[in-house]
Amino acid sequence: MESNKFDKLRQQFLCCYPVNKMAWSTLHLPLELDEQRALIAATCGHPLNQRFPVRRSYQEAFVKRLMHVLKDHDELHDDIYDSLCGQLAKTSLDAAPATSTYAYKHYMLQSEEHITLRESNSFVSEGTTGLCTWEAALALADYLLEHPNQLQGKNVLELGAGTGLLGILLKHKALKLPVGQVLVTDGSNACVKLMHDNISLNFDDASEEATPQCAQLRWHEIKEFPWSKYAAPDLLLAADVIYDDTQFSSLLAALDFVYELRGNRCEMLLASTVRNVDTLHTFMEQLELHEYQVTPCANVSACASHFCRDHTAAVQIVCIKR
Ligand SMILES: C[S@@+](CC[C@H](N)C(=O)[O-])C[C@H]1O[C@@H](n2cnc3c(N)ncnc32)[C@H](O)[C@@H]1O
Repeated sequence: MESNKFDKLRQQFLCCYPVNKMAWSTLHLPLELDEQRALIAATCGHPLNQRFPVRRSYQEAFVKRLMHVLKDHDELHDDIYDSLCGQLAKTSLDAAPATSTYAYKHYMLQSEEHITLRESNSFVSEGTTGLCTWEAALALADYLLEHPNQLQGKNVLELGAGTGLLGILLKHKALKLPVGQVLVTDGSNACVKLMHDNISLNFDDASEEATPQCAQLRWHEIKEFPWSKYAAPDLLLAADVIYDDTQFSSLLAALDFVYELRGNRCEMLLASTVRNVDTLHTFMEQLELHEYQVTPCANVSACASHFCRDHTAAVQIVCIKR
């Protein structure tokens, strides 16, 4: 049996890609019993999932869907039943709901290299939207992997970094991206703590050069930020931060501050999920009023998806210069 037969399903399972959109068509039915066992071993039984499990409800939904796909089979491998029963038993035994508010996701990069993130199971929790990774961050991650020359020697500052995916990607040892210092920031205390934990999960080497730096930065407090502790940023990143127009003026003031600090020798890549065209448009107009030039980045939708994006929501990435 080819070892990579279930690679796509494995990759999708490990990052909790929606079960109903998974690459089920890559399964050549009927599946022999040893193939069924190999598929369970590549997903629920994968060592990453054993050590840092993805959401229980997701595993349960995956196994149920797999049973449905195999419904015409005379026989199902015991490992499939065991996986489902295991999940159901854990769910009913789980007396403390707080223990299940976080789970892990594993984003596979190349061969066995991956990023593991602890993420919240809710889109909004602890007063922030940043405790799970959003589609715009995945799209920007794909874009940066496709355009590593844009990182050449640059010190990077991310605003509203949430779980820290982009910073962890940029400093990932196996990728050897040509980036300088990477500083991931967020205004939320809970996000900063989560980013710290996620950085520790992904880096053995704690040296400042080898890892992303992490700090709390609320946009309206940008002037008080201890800039002297960090390298001057050449490239700013932000993903999915344009949704609340009450934050626009502080975000713009933060950009003005950094661009002035750098004598305009910096640029920003801003990735936004297009949920509300008017909201995005309003922010783009305000950028122009602040004398920024905004250029859409080419070929965003054509970027290969290393991150299992489901492409249902359009993501716009723009480059902002002054
Ligand atoms: C939708 S989340 C996006 C998180 C991450 N960039 C992603 O795409 O997965 C928006 C993030 O912006 C942060 N944020 C919102 N307003 C902020 C502000 N005024 N100052 C700093 N961070 C802010 C939130 O805490 C949250 O982490």
